Amino acid sequence: MKGVTVVDHPLVQHKLTIMRKKETSTAGFRRLLREISLLLGYEVTRNLELTTTTIETPIEEMEAPTLEGKKLVFASVLRAGNGLLEGLLDLVPAARVAHIGLYRDHETLEAVEYFFKAPSDLADRLVIVVDPMLATANSAIAAIDKLKGRGATNIRFLCLLAAPEGIERFIKAHPDVPVFTASIDRQLNEKGYIMPGLGDAGDRMYGTK
Ligand code: PRP
Ligand code: URA
Repeated sequence: MKGVTVVDHPLVQHKLTIMRKKETSTAGFRRLLREISLLLGYEVTRNLELTTTTIETPIEEMEAPTLEGKKLVFASVLRAGNGLLEGLLDLVPAARVAHIGLYRDHETLEAVEYFFKAPSDLADRLVIVVDPMLATANSAIAAIDKLKGRGATNIRFLCLLAAPEGIERFIKAHPDVPVFTASIDRQLNEKGYIMPGLGDAGDRMYGTK
């Protein structure tokens, strides 16, 4: 599918399988999400621009490639996005962070915003939006609407699981935003949950059910 990258690395797929199991503990789920975020982070940052800086090795001076970490913003869709955010910040500690508080209304499945805080100069940065689940895509679309409203133009979306229906809606709404995911599952159920999925990502991360 154009604009969608499925990260099919065996380590990602293996860890995802354990996360899906209903008997996996809250602690295990959280640890695996952090581990998987390192592997997904590798893919989503694969073609980041590098500059060079002059350094001295013990042998001689060289022009060495460096990332401009400060040019990067990780935008976490609360709550579950924070599980991916932590690992990404291990990879790029200098990155800036945005938090977008959204929850799904269980009746309408619309995304309801309750918090937004982001660096002011989004127009100058690459923004990587993270949320483990792309179900109806209402949350992802709302998050990106908001970021674009604040000036962001260069955006990527990283999730763990996506539903085909959500991907289709997302691409229609934001065709300029590439999607990275570990799996495209079968479909949504009548309550808007991904099948087979892994359940409610926020509840599984924080033990709130
Ligand atoms: C979950 C998930 C996404 C959203 C995806 O969050 O983390 O943000 O659902 O569903 P959608 O694509 O249909 O919008 P939830 O609303 O359960 O909030 P939580 O993370 O605080 O539990
Ligand atoms: N949000 C979740 O946490 N899980 C789903 O399956 C769908 C939306």
